[in-house]
Amino acid sequence: MAIRKLVNVADMSREWWDDLYSRCRDIIARPGVYADSCRGKILASMFYEPSTRTNFSFQAAAQRLGAGVFGFSDPVGTSASKGETLADTIRMTAAYSSTIVIRSPQEGSATASALYSEVPVINAGDGGHSHPTQTLTDLTTIAQKRGKIGNIRIGLCGDLKNGRTVHSLAEAMEMFEGVSFYLISPKELSFPDYVLDRMNQVGQKYEVSESLADVIPELDVLYMTRIQRERFKDAGEYRRLKDIYILTKKLLEGAKKDMQIMHPLPRVDEISTDVDTDPRAAYFEQARYGMLIRMALLLEFMHLPREVPPVTLSDPYAAAGECTNPACITLSDTYLPRLVSRSGSDRCGYCDKKVTSMLL
Ligand code: NCD
Repeated sequence: MAIRKLVNVADMSREWWDDLYSRCRDIIARPGVYADSCRGKILASMFYEPSTRTNFSFQAAAQRLGAGVFGFSDPVGTSASKGETLADTIRMTAAYSSTIVIRSPQEGSATASALYSEVPVINAGDGGHSHPTQTLTDLTTIAQKRGKIGNIRIGLCGDLKNGRTVHSLAEAMEMFEGVSFYLISPKELSFPDYVLDRMNQVGQKYEVSESLADVIPELDVLYMTRIQRERFKDAGEYRRLKDIYILTKKLLEGAKKDMQIMHPLPRVDEISTDVDTDPRAAYFEQARYGMLIRMALLLEFMHLPREVPPVTLSDPYAAAGECTNPACITLSDTYLPRLVSRSGSDRCGYCDKKVTSMLL
């Protein structure tokens, strides 16, 4: 099952994941075989927002396959600062490269980029919306540590509202049997309604809790997240919530002996450093799996033929509404066709937030 872009979890299927993961396992077993498998290919790395792991691991992945890399980690040096549109920047970048990876604070930016690119586009995080390659990292870690992904109780803890990694992970777990979630957050930082609506629609099992101590004994995986300071409008609100969950050695006493502690990183204070030596701490290994699964992804995408993207016309259903999410790409890039979300015809196809009907 070939795909041409990875901008949302919806682009993946179970069959595709199984193929990708088996390629990753072979890369882990026989890295030397792959050392030149993307020789002559080029990764374009466009980071409009800070990154350490995602940016470095994509660059390392490309270089370990023998590919070249160009790009930026700060858009100040690009023509975006002269007013160039994302569409034009993408057309140019695609002309010079074999695959594009993009991270941006604007939600839906990767979906928009894929409309104008002749080469595959990978979403490396679009604002507080989604982060599908972190999900590949997370699935690889779970599979490697537990031998399989299904039949598992996962606690997602922290900033479930703004944390894009947990939105994507929750959606991807739909592909596996026997998964139940514990959603651990204060009410103010609970999952956005489009994530919960989708979980309800497909019948994913979950319980909501504000207390990590209460649910930790139930968990096979505890997935901690950082409170996302950069997405808060009110600094006082951030300060009030930032230390709400701190995983300590003491708290771990109540957990299963084989529970895995995961975190997309960077960590701020939510996992105390004395947990790092606990055999259950999987977060540093997780970051290494990120590079390995991204090698498997690049190996697939870099060999795809160039393809002129089809002209995308506005969807007639979406014409009834405008997105008002201030972080959505459609607010700055007003030329973009209006698209409808997979999660409902009253939702924006870029950021999944409800659109405002122009009939009101
Ligand atoms: C995450 C991200 O950027 O969303 N980091 C990552 O990609 N590994 C998590 C975060 O920033 O909190």
